[in-house]
Amino acid sequence: MGRSDLVDNEELLTPRLSLRRPTRADIDAIHRIHSDPRAYAHNPSDALANRVEAEDLYRRWDQHWQQHGFGYWTIHSRTELPAGQPLGFCGVKLLQLHGRTVVNLFYRLDPAAWGNGIATEAATAVADWATTGLPGQPLVARVRPGNIASLKVAAHAGLRRAPQLDTDGDDGLDWIFASNWPDDTDQIHDPRS
Ligand SMILES: CC(C)(COP(=O)(O)OP(=O)(O)OC[C@H]1O[C@@H](n2cnc3c(N)ncnc32)[C@H](O)[C@@H]1OP(=O)(O)O)[C@@H](O)C(=O)NCCC(=O)NCCS
Repeated sequence: MGRSDLVDNEELLTPRLSLRRPTRADIDAIHRIHSDPRAYAHNPSDALANRVEAEDLYRRWDQHWQQHGFGYWTIHSRTELPAGQPLGFCGVKLLQLHGRTVVNLFYRLDPAAWGNGIATEAATAVADWATTGLPGQPLVARVRPGNIASLKVAAHAGLRRAPQLDTDGDDGLDWIFASNWPDDTDQIHDPRS
């Protein structure tokens, strides 16, 4: 097995992880992780106030899966027996950036799982999957400038810093990391100029 194995779009395996399409059983983990202030410190607009909001978020993730056949995955440990709680979430969704449809890479882990290379392993597998499964599509990560761990994960996943694509997000300036962006970047307005 290489760095990752695709069982089908609904399960992606890495040496330590099983990434699986979320189910309703993950709503508690969505709620738990998105209501931990450490997990949204850099992106407060992603905070969830209650379980109803977590159900809504799950529904939006599931709609993306139904529409496109891919989306965010729930990260499970393959080595922890018996299997414990999900470690977090990592995946891609389609969104618009500078007038283009792009594949946006997302990752958010339970703080208890931080610092073990889990995000790097998951994000690298997902980025590899996107490169193969969605050929020709720009892949981006939007990262708040002070989020050092996230900057590193984006770079480890093979994305390169693309300052000319930086944009205002819901929580302020987002630094953009990208791969496979078409070579017409001079048409993009640099928000810092
Ligand atoms: C960003 C996040 C997913 C990283 O998860 P992780 O599993 O701890 O990441 P990794 O263990 O793969 O570490 C990646 C790198 O970041 C570093 N790192 C981890 N936490 C760090 C921290 N708090 N401060 C600085 N660097 C940190 C690691 O040392 C590693 O560096 P290295 O490659 O030089 O060894 C996790 O911190 C998280 O869920 N944060 C909240 C959600 C979030 O901000 N998501 C990104 C939105 S764009």
